[in-house]
Amino acid sequence: MKYLPINNQLFIKNRAKFTAQMKSKSLAVFNSNDLFTTGADSTLPFEQSRDLFYLSGADQEESILVLFPDAIDPNHREILFLTETNEHIAIWYGAKYSKEEATKVSGIKTIYWLSEFKKIFYDLMTEAETVYFNTNEHYRQSVELETREDRFIKKCKSDFPAHKWEKSGQIMQQIRGVKEPEEIEQMQTACEITNNGFRRILPFVKPGIMEYEIEAEFMHEFLKSRSKGFAYTPIIASGYSACVLHYIENNKACKDGDMLLLDVGAEYANYSSDMTRTIPVNGKFSDRQKEVYNAVLRVKNEATKMLIPGEYWANYHKEVGKLMTSELLGLGLIDKADVQNEDPNWPAYKKYFMHGTSHHLGLDTHDYGALKTPMKANMVFTVEPGIYIPEENMGIRIEDDVVIQENGAPFNLMRNIPIEVEEIEDLMNS
Ligand code: GLY
Ligand code: MN
Ligand code: MN
Repeated sequence: MKYLPINNQLFIKNRAKFTAQMKSKSLAVFNSNDLFTTGADSTLPFEQSRDLFYLSGADQEESILVLFPDAIDPNHREILFLTETNEHIAIWYGAKYSKEEATKVSGIKTIYWLSEFKKIFYDLMTEAETVYFNTNEHYRQSVELETREDRFIKKCKSDFPAHKWEKSGQIMQQIRGVKEPEEIEQMQTACEITNNGFRRILPFVKPGIMEYEIEAEFMHEFLKSRSKGFAYTPIIASGYSACVLHYIENNKACKDGDMLLLDVGAEYANYSSDMTRTIPVNGKFSDRQKEVYNAVLRVKNEATKMLIPGEYWANYHKEVGKLMTSELLGLGLIDKADVQNEDPNWPAYKKYFMHGTSHHLGLDTHDYGALKTPMKANMVFTVEPGIYIPEENMGIRIEDDVVIQENGAPFNLMRNIPIEVEEIEDLMNS
């Protein structure tokens, strides 16, 4: 791992929050992600299951966490199963966790090798009445592959058909949505790395540069700062491409007079940052570009103030829609008749701003987190309004990451990232 160690108190707290909501005589199982092969003997870099990481800090493939608060043997109330390391693995692939290291990382005292799982799990199941399975219930999930977790659930249901099943998803959604100070610290680091990347590219962008050259500059900055790289596939979209919301080819030349949309965030310690900035390729906003840019910026600033405890996600989006409607009227992109005749299910502003304004951010970029209950302090959201005008070859989005506070306006984790027109122009021409 490139990141600095995280205090294991975080994972101890996270487990306590989960187990506090478990039924009596129940156990919960969390499996690591698979290592994905690309062909022959190659694999993609490993990405840990975010839930397993959240509850243990274990950042290694072939790991299983079992939580069983009512286990008769106190040593079996939390167990981490890991693949056994040996000399061959150590020489070819580097060391895996020793039992002592795993305890240090996770705060879990009982570490067993994976080879012991079958026997120990069978014994635990004879005591347990209910098993919590960790299915993916994210509101945007669309996973076609069978995961290690899915395979485990299938086998477990067939081996132990007389047990009761529960799902961990609801508990995880709820607890992962409200961040601990140690998590906000990792996310602040991720945002600072992103800030350095943005400052690096500002004087570098010039007419004629290729979008992928800009991507490479970000990657350089991220890797040298202990990040694995991008928290999500970056969007480096100049001109019309900025109106293609999921443009990720990043293979075009940036043209003089065009705007360049950069939706780029570093990961750090598996936590995401998620930034969007839109800059003029030639270092100087035209009057029209400035007008649209400042309209988006005003919506972002006003929307941010609405992220307070007690607010509802759905209502917040309605209010942001009103702000955007007023800005689009001001820009002459829609008129009063468009608003009067609008379909309430697809209001007039959606023609130029067709995506949501905010999502939870954390271990996943589109993170787990409650969306139907009132917002709470220490939830972290993005704020990312945009105006996309294909007929003008221009898409402008501005995105910051903010932490809801008990009182007052949210705390902006991206407060150090240049955002004002003059600041961006100055840095581009420095
Ligand atoms: N970068 C993904 C998003 O903004 O939601
Ligand atoms: Mn983004
Ligand atoms: Mn986002």
